[in-house]
Amino acid sequence: MASSMLNGAENLTLIRGITPKGLGFGGSDLQGRHFSKVNAVASTRISKARTLTPMCSLSASRPASQPRFIQHKKEAFWFYRFLSIVYDHVINPGHWTEDMRDEALEPADLSNRNMLVVDVGGGTGFTTLGIVKHVDAKNVTILDQSPHQLAKAKQKEPLKDCKIIEGDAEDLPFRTDYADRYVSAGSIEYWPDPQRGIKEAYRVLKLGGKACLIGPVYPTFWLSRFFADAWMLFPKEEEYIEWFQKAGFKDVQLKRIGPKWYRGVRRHGLIMGCSVTGVKPASGDSPLQLGPKAEDVTEPVKPFVFLMRLILGAMAATYYVLVPIYMWLKDQIVPKGRPI
Ligand SMILES: C[S@@+](CC[C@H](N)C(=O)[O-])C[C@H]1O[C@@H](n2cnc3c(N)ncnc32)[C@H](O)[C@@H]1O
Repeated sequence: MASSMLNGAENLTLIRGITPKGLGFGGSDLQGRHFSKVNAVASTRISKARTLTPMCSLSASRPASQPRFIQHKKEAFWFYRFLSIVYDHVINPGHWTEDMRDEALEPADLSNRNMLVVDVGGGTGFTTLGIVKHVDAKNVTILDQSPHQLAKAKQKEPLKDCKIIEGDAEDLPFRTDYADRYVSAGSIEYWPDPQRGIKEAYRVLKLGGKACLIGPVYPTFWLSRFFADAWMLFPKEEEYIEWFQKAGFKDVQLKRIGPKWYRGVRRHGLIMGCSVTGVKPASGDSPLQLGPKAEDVTEPVKPFVFLMRLILGAMAATYYVLVPIYMWLKDQIVPKGRPI
């Protein structure tokens, strides 16, 4: 496993930017807040700064305590073989609404219709539909490892001029210095080696190009943590920042997002919880050197172990179908303005 642990040599300054008071923070405060440059997060009060040393593995291969049954390319492939059938109808309404998508894409700064954009882990094209509001579809490439997800994207009329290709986020089939924007939404949680994927984002961008990576955030509530760890990778906010910085990005920023009816609650984690951006300051490859890939997906799998992992991962995922329903009910019941 190519997991590079932060061994304490490198400390992160975490600026406390906004205020999840204990378990969450006010709904209207949720949208649109940014963490300032090179700053990560993990806050309980406003405007205090402290230096923390992240305790977690930066490359996030799977420690035994966090089995992450579907943080593997083959498992993700089969998971989406079935989930693709209902993905747009089940996942998006609960976790990834059009409002959230547009909020999350705003820091990507899609300011010119002629920009070349790659949407990595683009799946059924839900995020791409947000991208093509700002950029001509012919300039957008959707890449995903799942032909089943891509088949859904191909059916969407606004995406008919996009290039749609199969590929691996950790080994992108684009030349160095190719794109103006790199977007990836909700895919990092399946990558066995997220640092490698972010290093690839850096490589394929042009000088001054921007990466926008939207992904989950780690829960604090014990039961949610249990299911999150059983399912896939839910990074901590400071991990995202560190991966971006290590890949060579400058002006790294993290914006919190979440469904409106959560009223800012983050204790259960979020499947789409933040939008992280960084700018490529120099042309060429990332300054970060990595060893061989973490997982060799060409290796034969043990069918029984594989099936069990897939079933257990899918069961853990089910918890995260129920959480947004629970939060939605709470939002309906608890008077507005009160914490939920
Ligand atoms: C939750 S979906 C997100 C789809 C889309 N970006 C959206 O916003 O709705 C995650 C996607 O990541 C893809 N994926 C997972 N691992 C990948 C990898 N290593 N390379 C490329 N795509 C990957 C899956 O096939 C799936 O389509």
